[in-house]
Amino acid sequence: MSETLENIKTRRSIRQFKDTPVPKELIEKICEAGTYAPTGMGKQSPIIVAVTNPTVRNKLSKLNAAIMNGTNDPFYGAPVVLVVLADKERGTYLYDGSLVMGNMMLAAHDLGLGSCWIHRAKEVFESEEGKALLKEWGIEGDYEGIGNCIIGYPDGKEPVAKPRKSDYVYYID
Ligand SMILES: Cc1cc2nc3c(=O)[nH]c(=O)nc-3n(C[C@H](O)[C@H](O)[C@H](O)COP(=O)(O)O)c2cc1C
Repeated sequence: MSETLENIKTRRSIRQFKDTPVPKELIEKICEAGTYAPTGMGKQSPIIVAVTNPTVRNKLSKLNAAIMNGTNDPFYGAPVVLVVLADKERGTYLYDGSLVMGNMMLAAHDLGLGSCWIHRAKEVFESEEGKALLKEWGIEGDYEGIGNCIIGYPDGKEPVAKPRKSDYVYYID
């Protein structure tokens, strides 16, 4: 099997991380992989906000947990959060942003890092606190939160993939 196909098959969502910080150059590689995702008409509607600052990371965690009325860290202790938002002016923004998320999760796996899509970015950046953060970061425009791609060094066993459902693919020959 090609390395790419192997990478796609062996990537799993990681929910336990070491404290070890992730080198900036690896974060940059993951973000770069995100920027090479296909987008509708090549308009590159998404943006990525790479958060390593612990105060901001913890604030995002709290805002995310609050959406679920919870207090547990929804980022599972991961030191890096790559927030993907996409410009709603493009009709394909949701698909564009999702592909960026997918590229970044695969890139992380390829680099020996763990990742997981953490949801509720939409709700977080629709809240007043979330909007204030975007303003603070100098992000203007009609952006919707697509997902949070958490990144870190996996701690513990790699999860095993569930068997694929039997009626996943229909071949019409
Ligand atoms: C749109 C989307 C939202 C997700 N949201 C969360 C989440 O909020 N928290 C979480 O722990 N995992 C989340 N996941 C990860 C899924 O639970 C995970 O992909 C699924 O269980 C399959 O496992 P795998 O990624 O290891 O193949 C999300 C995945 C997707 C695609």
